[in-house]
Amino acid sequence: MVKLEGKAIVITGAGRGIGAAYARAAAALGARVVVNDRDAAAAEEVAAGIRATGAAAVSHPCDVAQWEPARALVERCVQEFGAIDGLVNNAGVFRMERIHEMTEAACRMTLEVNVLGTMFPSAHAIGHMQRAGRGAIVNVTSGAQMGLVAMGAYGASKGAVASLTYAWAADLPAGTIRVNAVSPSGATQMGEHNVGYYRDRGQTIAPNPNTPEDNAPLVCYLLSDAAAGVHGQVVRIHGRKLALVSHPAVLEPVQEHPSAWTSDAIEEAFARVFCAHLQPVGLRHVRQSPA
Ligand SMILES: NC(=O)c1ccc[n+]([C@@H]2O[C@H](COP(=O)([O-])OP(=O)(O)OC[C@H]3O[C@@H](n4cnc5c(N)ncnc54)[C@H](O)[C@@H]3O)[C@@H](O)[C@H]2O)c1
Repeated sequence: MVKLEGKAIVITGAGRGIGAAYARAAAALGARVVVNDRDAAAAEEVAAGIRATGAAAVSHPCDVAQWEPARALVERCVQEFGAIDGLVNNAGVFRMERIHEMTEAACRMTLEVNVLGTMFPSAHAIGHMQRAGRGAIVNVTSGAQMGLVAMGAYGASKGAVASLTYAWAADLPAGTIRVNAVSPSGATQMGEHNVGYYRDRGQTIAPNPNTPEDNAPLVCYLLSDAAAGVHGQVVRIHGRKLALVSHPAVLEPVQEHPSAWTSDAIEEAFARVFCAHLQPVGLRHVRQSPA
């Protein structure tokens, strides 16, 4: 059974949208929550709403893509609640622009918030979790990591988050600190950019099938002791579907050459083998053999 009784959890970017849903749901399951957002008023509104239900919550506004403020966020959780048992790296920004349409500032902001904003709170939280011998980190990635139109920078940032998840799972032995990621779906202000991008081009896209709240049970499960043994996984919610996302892997058949590969030998390997195995581009589903 999923319970978060007594756990102290930081949720970044929780002033609105899916993060706010995580904060409310975690508190309803007994967690004491630090509600972060760079929008101070929004963070306090969510925290106050949680306190009004009788649960424990404080707001701590800051930009999680800044090293010292991210440290202070983690320390606030330890000061208020005596520990940091969980961290949800939810804060994120989204832009729809092709690479040749982007400014330097837009490139930097997307990567800094989504990647450094995941790394910095984690860097500060993991020391506390290691000393306590327990902790759960939930990162937030996106289907865009698989390649979607006009989502190169955003997708790259979320691909980096998936890679961080795999690497931290390798760094941190299972059984103490668990690290997983979710690939959520929810109609929020973020999705409005998506709708607007296509509307400006005379196109329509299907409405997002999820509410922000649809994603909260998954994050609460991953934060809870019920998920002991679940480590290094990316779990995707879309509509009523729940799925694991495959990790990048080296594909068979691997070709081996008796000496260093030459361009001509590579051309021959593509003609003979690889051209029949070229990978489709973009978000897709891989059917696995039944277990
Ligand atoms: N909405 C979706 O369908 C969807 C799909 C895939 C992934 N995601 C991811 O889920 C997360 C939440 O998305 P959402 O739709 O709720 O977005 P949202 O825009 O509604 O909320 C994001 C929140 O993060 C805050 N934030 C942004 N930068 C910050 C920073 N540097 N420091 C602290 N707070 C910051 C914003 O102020 C905002 O309140 C994001 O990481 C997003 O990339 C969302």
